[in-house]
Amino acid sequence: MCGIVGYIGPQAAVPVVISGLRKLEYRGYDSAGIAKINPDSGKFEIQRAVGKLINLERKLSDADHAPHERLNVAMGHTRWATHGSVTERNAHPHVSMSGNIAIVQNGIVENFLELKHDLQAEGVVFTSETDTEVIVQLVEKFIHAGSDFEKAVHMALAQLRGSSAVVLLNLAEPGTMIAARLGNAGGVVVGLGDGEVLVASDVPGVLECTRKVLFLDSHEVVIAKVGDVKVRRLNGERVNKEVHTIAWDPVAAEKGEYRHFMQKEIFEQARAITDTIRGRVDFEQGKVLLEGMKAGPLPRKIFSIGMGTSSISTMIGKFMIENLARVPVEVDYASEFRYRDPLITPDDVVMGITQSGETADTLAAMQEGRDKKARVWAIVNAIGSQAQRVSDGNITMRSGPEISVASTKAFTTSVVDQYLLACWLAQQTQHGLPHTAISDLMHLPGLVSKMLEKNNIYDDLANIFHLREHFLYLGRGINYPVALEGALKMKEISYIHAEGYPAGEMKHGPIALIDENMPVVCICIRDNVYEKMVSQVEQVRARHGTVIAVATEGDTDIAKKADHVIYVPECPPLLSPVLTAIPMQRLAYHMALRRGCDVDQPRNLAKSVTVE
Ligand code: AGP
Repeated sequence: MCGIVGYIGPQAAVPVVISGLRKLEYRGYDSAGIAKINPDSGKFEIQRAVGKLINLERKLSDADHAPHERLNVAMGHTRWATHGSVTERNAHPHVSMSGNIAIVQNGIVENFLELKHDLQAEGVVFTSETDTEVIVQLVEKFIHAGSDFEKAVHMALAQLRGSSAVVLLNLAEPGTMIAARLGNAGGVVVGLGDGEVLVASDVPGVLECTRKVLFLDSHEVVIAKVGDVKVRRLNGERVNKEVHTIAWDPVAAEKGEYRHFMQKEIFEQARAITDTIRGRVDFEQGKVLLEGMKAGPLPRKIFSIGMGTSSISTMIGKFMIENLARVPVEVDYASEFRYRDPLITPDDVVMGITQSGETADTLAAMQEGRDKKARVWAIVNAIGSQAQRVSDGNITMRSGPEISVASTKAFTTSVVDQYLLACWLAQQTQHGLPHTAISDLMHLPGLVSKMLEKNNIYDDLANIFHLREHFLYLGRGINYPVALEGALKMKEISYIHAEGYPAGEMKHGPIALIDENMPVVCICIRDNVYEKMVSQVEQVRARHGTVIAVATEGDTDIAKKADHVIYVPECPPLLSPVLTAIPMQRLAYHMALRRGCDVDQPRNLAKSVTVE
């Protein structure tokens, strides 16, 4: 997903923009560019480069790093190619034919070809293959027809189909930045600094200058000047926006003593889960309080949807909610959900689980629930994200910024959120909430801390298996989704083909895969399916497969049957996925490290998929 940062203020604008873009690198990109207004020449100075930001920085001059006493204005962009190949020519910013207006964009203009052809028929000459350039040429067309800058932007946006977030600069109004959001193409955050103003795709892009931000909703336009920020709807109607103060410590968004964001975020999970629970559980009264949820009738059914790791999280939450609250839960991939005409009634809830709160498929699936008059809930990490804003009720993950593409602490906190939701719903039923459900939660952060203690086994396993090209993950019951998550982590950061399977399925096909080249991770903790899992371990070993077992501390039997054992502390079965997920994360991390992969920004992936 693309990253955008724009700045107006007393600081040298180029270094501020580059630093902001660096904080957005996690979104994945393949080229970058920056446009600065030179107050002396009154012209744009634009630099673009393929590859990482360092390639762009090499093109900057000393003048770019010195503040100008009159005006410091710049905007930059990291591009994840959708339309047009990865070239300097296609990198943003793009300018209008006169060179007077510049634009950066995140998202897709679905009708760009017809708009481009119309503009070309009117004599407009394009310099790139991008859909983005259509927007800036349209803005110039409307200015030439007599509209002012703001009106011209409104008119151009009204012509577009698809989701877009854009930022524009105009040499005729150098102290003004106009940004707009159409649909869910990733956010537009406005940073309200002291004597400076910024716009960015996400909060980390402005945090070095300010923690005071406002968030644009879809079909809103901000006219940003230092000390004067106005937001209007596309129809011109003024909008008063709430100003949020972001509590995130900018350092928290840095790696600290860790080598990768993923490593840092794995090791933050005890703190993150503590924050997730904090203030939401009255341990004396044995009650759960969810600040973002409104009491109401119990849902007839909850449709729980998400993508990727968040989709796997829904599968775990199903066990928790059905077990504790006896409310039926139907889970599905968000991308499948709305195309099967789901049987949603107004007595149901459609719940989106999404770390970023911007995943296009998940937002669209939530909209499906809205269209069918169901209540819409969200379990979300990003404060102010679209998913949070469109929901009738939401539970934040409180994991803090998750920068690494591979989701870890957001996964475990989303699972804990669903456990809290299950308790909260159970409290509203006749049978109430089993008291142990609350006390079990009290011990969870301590158990997670134990899982994060130093353990050389991950490095040892990576040294043994880093050249393998296939892995199988087996789990059963509430730990079957953890097998899927383990396989997903291994796939996405080490590029090894890994599959997760319900262990009972082995005899129905996958056992044919087993031979001495197939490492099999078996989640085999002491729960109601333990005996079944032990039998699976024996069947794999009988066919010369290598078994890496995740087992309960003190289980010496399994050590006689498996080749390697990673132990987890004894814990209540309903909460066991929070613990068994951690060996999955740590094994994948060490394998990726050993294979020399880009752990935080794996190839072809983005942190948030804001296009279908
Ligand atoms: C997980 O490690 C991946 N990065 C990916 O599957 C992710 O979970 C998915 O894209 C959903 O993102 P979301 O939670 O922000 O909606």
